[in-house]
Amino acid sequence: MLILEFPNERHRAAYEDMVKGWRSVETPTSPGKLFAGKDFDEFLSIVQREPAESDPAKVPAHLFFLADTECSKLFGAIQIRHHINHPNLIETGGHIGYGICPSERRKAYATRMLALALPEAKKIGLSRLLVTCKDANVGSWKAIESNGGVFERTTFDEGQLARRYWIEIT
Ligand SMILES: CC(C)(COP(=O)(O)OP(=O)(O)OC[C@H]1O[C@@H](n2cnc3c(N)ncnc32)[C@H](O)[C@@H]1OP(=O)(O)O)[C@@H](O)C(=O)NCCC(=O)NCCS
Repeated sequence: MLILEFPNERHRAAYEDMVKGWRSVETPTSPGKLFAGKDFDEFLSIVQREPAESDPAKVPAHLFFLADTECSKLFGAIQIRHHINHPNLIETGGHIGYGICPSERRKAYATRMLALALPEAKKIGLSRLLVTCKDANVGSWKAIESNGGVFERTTFDEGQLARRYWIEIT
């Protein structure tokens, strides 16, 4: 069974495996927080602190692993931002940042992870999510559309065409 889990000490070995495999294939981009810190201890302290972020210049967020309870394996991670009232988020960042490790892509994990994130976003108090991605990122916009994402308009992100979608949480 696939579940979303808030990072904790139990994930140490699986986190180290996933990040090592990921970095061996590409320079990871998203979700950025998954790669924060020089090691697991530093990563854990950053993500466990983040939901209670009190600095008004920073946006509180929850990062969750997509995990398989049976084999203690991690497939990727998704970050849910508590709001988008920030210049980096309101146009192109949106509420969500996510990624699946390269060895596990194209197995519907991103689609499932986003579906599992919707009830978590609701618990945070969100009723609709802005989810954005580059136009060229077919896997991402397909996962968004499969989760009820309604295309709003295109925009530009880092000089590239990007798409903005809204997902209503029912
Ligand atoms: C984008 C990303 C999250 C997709 O993850 P994934 O687990 O491979 O996605 P899924 O398997 O759920 O695929 C969703 C759909 O996109 C399709 N798809 C996935 N990757 C694709 C690709 N590279 N090219 C074309 N189609 C692709 C799948 O076939 C599936 O199609 P379907 O719904 O018609 O069956 C993953 O490629 C990734 O982590 N990329 C790097 C980080 C990133 O870009 N994050 C998103 C930032 S907005």
